[in-house]
Amino acid sequence: MTTVLRSHADVVAAALDPTRFSNDVSRYRQVPNGLDGDAHRDMVRILAPFLAPAVVDGLEPALRAIAQDLIAELAVRPDFDAVGDLGVRFAVRAQSAWLGWSSQHEPALRLWVAEHRAALRSGEDRRIATTAARFDDIVRLLLDERRGCARDDLTTRLMRVRTVNGGLLSDADVVSILRNWTGGDLSSLALCVGVVVRWLADDAARARRLRDAAASDLDAVIDEILRLDDPFVSNRRRARENAAAGGCPVHAGDVIVLDWRSANTDPAVFGPGFDPFAHAAANLVYGIGVHACPGRQLATRQLRVLVQELLTAGTIQPASGAPAVRESAPGAGWRTLPVRVVRGGGAAAGRAS
Ligand code: HEM
Repeated sequence: MTTVLRSHADVVAAALDPTRFSNDVSRYRQVPNGLDGDAHRDMVRILAPFLAPAVVDGLEPALRAIAQDLIAELAVRPDFDAVGDLGVRFAVRAQSAWLGWSSQHEPALRLWVAEHRAALRSGEDRRIATTAARFDDIVRLLLDERRGCARDDLTTRLMRVRTVNGGLLSDADVVSILRNWTGGDLSSLALCVGVVVRWLADDAARARRLRDAAASDLDAVIDEILRLDDPFVSNRRRARENAAAGGCPVHAGDVIVLDWRSANTDPAVFGPGFDPFAHAAANLVYGIGVHACPGRQLATRQLRVLVQELLTAGTIQPASGAPAVRESAPGAGWRTLPVRVVRGGGAAAGRAS
């Protein structure tokens, strides 16, 4: 049986109780997401340096160059899709820069994101498994490249990292880690870009006020935008014992769904309206507890840099032609979001036509 937890209190209670609710829900090994207890703690510890603040800071110039190049290319078009043309390409290039992947893999990764999103939309298990296997093939190719000729990049470092027992990670675990770091998060980041760009395009004057915002204020605004339209919908847990969740009895083995999207807009916790600072402490966009997102600083920096570069390039406006289309369940956010950049961004440019 599956129980869906929707209130903020219920979702937080389950996420903070890994003793009663296990992350071992998938039939595939998922590292570190699907691990529990000591195995999870040890893995999180050896992977933490890959996402450390110094790594994120060191990546920022590359992220800025990627954002500038992409925006320069898209801004001369009459319009472009903020998710497919901007979000997916930015996500693929940013994650590739972080992991040291060559640009020759970009077409395969972009195609994979499109197939993965379509497979999730279809809800067909076989199609989802096929796209997951295709991602593993791409990753295995990247590992083989490094076996032939070692490189000085994070992917090579991951292949050489020592576990708590002193051995190397198995190939299957390296593939799983890279799948969890990039696979799902390429689409998450692309969808986050769509949600944030929509907010910028909705009100040009409001967006312009962010141009001189301090980095930490901008991060808080982005978190609040994502809280109100969270594209990272849910995660699952499995009850280890007979228990209660959300006021319902659950039996050992039952699946519990943590509905982040619903919890993030629970009126019992969040006041009406847009209030980045008042709502920050309860914001669940990146989860909570031992499984909270270790990629939060990286994702936040990627989004901050992209927003700064968009605001510098001009004013983002909804495009007048094709309509924006919402993503369908189990996804969220925007499937396509046609927008344009009006260079300069003065008062006249700020008025949507
Ligand atoms: C783009 C925006 C992102 C959002 C909204 C997001 C959201 C989340 C959430 C809600 C969780 C908690 C899952 C749970 O409790 O079961 C999570 C976990 C995780 N995220 Fe993210 N994430 C993002 C980006 C990233 C990035 C860029 C990376 C890696 C580079 C990453 C890697 C992970 C991993 C490995 C976990 C599992 C952690 C664990 O189980 O210990 N995420 N993420």
